[in-house]
Amino acid sequence: MRINELRQIYLRFFKEREHKTIRSSSLLPEHDATALFTMAGMHPLMPFLLGQPHPQGTRLVNVQKCIRMTDIDEVGDTTHLTFFEMLGNWSLGDYWKKEAITWSFEFLTSPEWLGFNKEKLFVTVFEGDDDAPKDTEAIEIWKSVGIPEKQIYPLPKSENWWGPPGVVGPCGPCSEMFIETDDIPKCSPKCRPGCHCGHFVEVWNDVFMEYNRKDDGSYEKLKRRNIDTGMGVERTAAMLQGVSTVYETEAFVPMINRIKDLARKDELIAEEMRLARIIADHVKAAVMIMADDAQIAPSNVEHGYIARRLIRKAILCADNLGIGKGFLQNLAEIVIDMYEDIYDEVRRNCQFVIDNLRAEDTKFRNTLKKALRRFDRILNETGTITGSDAFLLFTSFGLPLEMTRELAQEKGIWIDIDEFRRQFEEHREMSRTATEGKFKGGLADYSEEITRMHTATHLLQAALRKVLGDGVHQMGSNITKERLRFDFSFSRKMTPEEIAEVEKLVNEVIQQDLPVERSFMSYDEAIGKGALAFFKETYGEEVSVYSVGDFSMELCGGPHVERTGVLRGFKITKQRKIGANVVRVRAIICNA
Ligand code: ALA
Repeated sequence: MRINELRQIYLRFFKEREHKTIRSSSLLPEHDATALFTMAGMHPLMPFLLGQPHPQGTRLVNVQKCIRMTDIDEVGDTTHLTFFEMLGNWSLGDYWKKEAITWSFEFLTSPEWLGFNKEKLFVTVFEGDDDAPKDTEAIEIWKSVGIPEKQIYPLPKSENWWGPPGVVGPCGPCSEMFIETDDIPKCSPKCRPGCHCGHFVEVWNDVFMEYNRKDDGSYEKLKRRNIDTGMGVERTAAMLQGVSTVYETEAFVPMINRIKDLARKDELIAEEMRLARIIADHVKAAVMIMADDAQIAPSNVEHGYIARRLIRKAILCADNLGIGKGFLQNLAEIVIDMYEDIYDEVRRNCQFVIDNLRAEDTKFRNTLKKALRRFDRILNETGTITGSDAFLLFTSFGLPLEMTRELAQEKGIWIDIDEFRRQFEEHREMSRTATEGKFKGGLADYSEEITRMHTATHLLQAALRKVLGDGVHQMGSNITKERLRFDFSFSRKMTPEEIAEVEKLVNEVIQQDLPVERSFMSYDEAIGKGALAFFKETYGEEVSVYSVGDFSMELCGGPHVERTGVLRGFKITKQRKIGANVVRVRAIICNA
């Protein structure tokens, strides 16, 4: 079965079970200061998992594009990827464990659907601890559909509990499903589902979201239980196609073949194959990040830094295979071809992607040789590479920290990351992406401060359009408790008068203490009424619209304050031109 068909029949299976199909959200979580990328299908659905009614109802299904930086060190093995697609079905306070498990079983094993041999299907369930009991309910359901006890493994929280990593919020025990492969033998007699040797491949995870993790680390029962599931497209396709790695599916074969051609090799030996897989994975992830409608270009901060790091690593790996300039564009064209029919934005932004890849290639090659020479010189002179050296290599030569760390590791040197970070923080306000190890993918924060910033962002956009014209629209947004940051399309910096005018308009609306009202309507109706929409593909047919009097109207999932008065006062603190047609402002909520 081809990947296209897998996507389609998954959606059809759940549509037949009364699920509404929703579009994939952007790879960049909107209004979320804690996560750089959408890392699971549930991520964009957070407000709804937390209890807000979803305009499409209580049963949803979709294909979501995801980026996981947490698995980056595993890339090149048989199953881990930076960019992947996740199929998911959700119950928002609707069906529960019995339906979720029964449907998972039916979809995986029925000859009408995927038709996996049920003797090859292994499942894991939560074994229980002080916070929550053993999931005997899940065990009984699995047994009742026909999975014998010897194929059911109870495992601890570290393996069978899902919640967004490190963050408070909804979570719960989960049940993972694995297909046993014949190609890769068990690594030891103790090998079991959950082992990373590749013998058991995890294809799907059903999360029974019935707890809320509190600030103090304790758990309480949620008022409303949800089901969140995620099936990895590439892994499932590999199992369906009888191949032992995701790289042997059509999600990668055309890229790997091109890499072989460029390296002028008919066959790749193991280490060469690992490099080829990293190149394919990284180029694909960088292309998908850049092809998002936010138009992320490689840079030294945040999402742009991740794109840069992926591209530069791909260039280094390509160098090792003897592949020179031009391969990025070559591979990017394959990626665009693969996804442009699934995600419209890939087609919309393909020229931007190609142009930026070319520019990054030139930039990096110009400094790479110098960087490597400097690396060797420091090592010869001092016998080591310190955190400060890594910082110098980063700022002066653009060598990403992770690469310096890998080069150093080959020589048995461990770089003091904290030292690098201290310097980085002094130098730049944003360090979290460079110190990826510390970064936790996670969830939006729905505290009062963040909610106020969401509303302020809407007022700001409306005011900007009134002062600068309707050509202005949102290019990106990021919120923390302390400030909001807003990128918009405009060709020059604002004058001080324009800034003062924008602030004045926003503050007037705050003083009028207008109600912030939410309504639901069709996408076309909302656009017809003049509502602003940032990422079209985020929205289903019926959309949620927030309005503030006739000052602002935007498609948005919320949350927002009830009345504008609680914002007290608004001030723009900084403005910077960050692209040919993009201006970035920061603003705070203050006492007017
Ligand atoms: N959110 C769950 C996961 O990513 C389904 O595994």
